[in-house]
Amino acid sequence: MLKVGVLASGRGTNLQAIIDASEKKMINAEVVVVVSDNEKAFALERAKKHGIDAYFIDASNKEKHEKKIDEIFRNYDVGLAVGAGYMRVLSPWFIKRWYGKIINIHPSLLPSFKGIDAQRQALEYGVKLAGCTTHFMDEKPDHGPIILQAAIRVLPDDDRDKLAERILKVEHQILPRSIDLFEKKRLIIEGRKVKILPGDSWLPKYSYPDVLYSYGY
Ligand code: GRF
Repeated sequence: MLKVGVLASGRGTNLQAIIDASEKKMINAEVVVVVSDNEKAFALERAKKHGIDAYFIDASNKEKHEKKIDEIFRNYDVGLAVGAGYMRVLSPWFIKRWYGKIINIHPSLLPSFKGIDAQRQALEYGVKLAGCTTHFMDEKPDHGPIILQAAIRVLPDDDRDKLAERILKVEHQILPRSIDLFEKKRLIIEGRKVKILPGDSWLPKYSYPDVLYSYGY
């Protein structure tokens, strides 16, 4: 079974989606450890509730912070690291050590609206389609090779929170599915692109109408 280490800074609903998919056996993967840079992150509580080891690691010294994460992930034999609302930019040192084994979820259709509060950025820009993206992390934030994307409509009465909530529901699908594809060795990184090898699909069993899921979902 694939061992997953999760980095999270906040409420941890994406972490929860991974835990739920694992407990329901939708993915042959389990979260073995959760690390947060925020002592009060609800993600840490969620982990503990499910008997998963969880660590707060102070980030006032970035180098020490990342060395500790690296050490913990190696001690837990983590095969895939997942950024699930981890609000820091990882250093090139860390990325090099984990490249190809570290993914992230971002609440926009990349490369649009990188960085903080992507949903508000999208709304204020006036886009008509919004969505989310999973990608392998590289040295630039929200930049690495894209694994999956899902698009939803922006509705006339959307505000930031309504839009974010609908995007989040789909994040909770494409993140576990991306882990599933990784575990099944169906993701081949070719430069900037990720080739997805043919196989099963989650579309028939776990999709919403009005959402456009990228190939591989
Ligand atoms: C999500 O929208 C994620 O895409 C972004 O931060 C948010 C984290 O939410 N990177 P949660 O902590 O998983 O609930």
